[in-house]
Amino acid sequence: MNNQSAATPEINAFEFEFISEYVESHAGIALEKGKEYLAARNLHNVCREEGIGSVKELVWRLKNNGNNPDLNRKIIQSMTINETLFFRDGHPFDDLKTRVLPQIIEQHKNDKKLSIWSCSCSTGQEPYSIALILRQYFQLNEWELNFNATDIDDAALEKAREGIYNTMEVSRGMPEAMRDRYMKKEGLKYQFKPEIRSMIQFKTANLVGSWPFTTKFDLVLLRNTLIYFKPETKISIIKKIHRFMNKGGYLMLSAADIFRETEIPFRQETVGKSVFYRPL
Ligand SMILES: C[S@@+](CC[C@H](N)C(=O)[O-])C[C@H]1O[C@@H](n2cnc3c(N)ncnc32)[C@H](O)[C@@H]1O
Repeated sequence: MNNQSAATPEINAFEFEFISEYVESHAGIALEKGKEYLAARNLHNVCREEGIGSVKELVWRLKNNGNNPDLNRKIIQSMTINETLFFRDGHPFDDLKTRVLPQIIEQHKNDKKLSIWSCSCSTGQEPYSIALILRQYFQLNEWELNFNATDIDDAALEKAREGIYNTMEVSRGMPEAMRDRYMKKEGLKYQFKPEIRSMIQFKTANLVGSWPFTTKFDLVLLRNTLIYFKPETKISIIKKIHRFMNKGGYLMLSAADIFRETEIPFRQETVGKSVFYRPL
């Protein structure tokens, strides 16, 4: 007999369907069939934290008790995948440094304004990678930098805001020279110095909700996230991002996010080894 079977969290087909619709309508995330065990395990953790007896009871509460923002947040948070690292995939950040950012900066040499948005920043490694490039390679002291980083997951954002990472996290992608120059060691952890943390404003935003901006952006990063959404949701997010971008701007997706130019109001442009999307 397998001792683990008694502790295996369970979810039946009806509950899985209800939770799938709930997560998709609140966060756009599509739970595919075959992910039942994963969903049950995540929900089981929420139940334990909330003192709810079972996934069945949780579903009953969601159906009958009306809106509960705190529970909603915990359920969505339990379904997000926050995997990230500094300078993820390498070459997109090299191409940003050597080609894209110099071009955007040239476009704005008169107004000296630069607007950047990392749309699903998780625990912050993506926007900090950009902040480090800006600080190390560009002279922007007199510039107005509007650098936002958002995510649906408040817990991930809290960590991002603190800018504290353990040695394992720092070893994933962070060049030692940058670590020593821009981070302060605190015991076994490293924290970004205020000069780096103060460059970025971390805010909650749901890609399928309303967005807290009135300005437009020159560079938008939406990486390793659309993979969790249905095709029609991906396209509607990309079309909405278009309305938040300056003409001449650059949208950076991840290599797995491939769109036909007829589907979205962007044209593809290969820059170095990377593909960027330019608003039409
Ligand atoms: C795998 S991480 C990617 C992090 C980073 N962009 C990177 O490429 O390393 C995906 C992030 O998307 C966020 N996310 C998922 N659904 C979201 C939504 N509807 N709105 C905003 N962020 C969302 C998750 O919370 C998670 O932090």
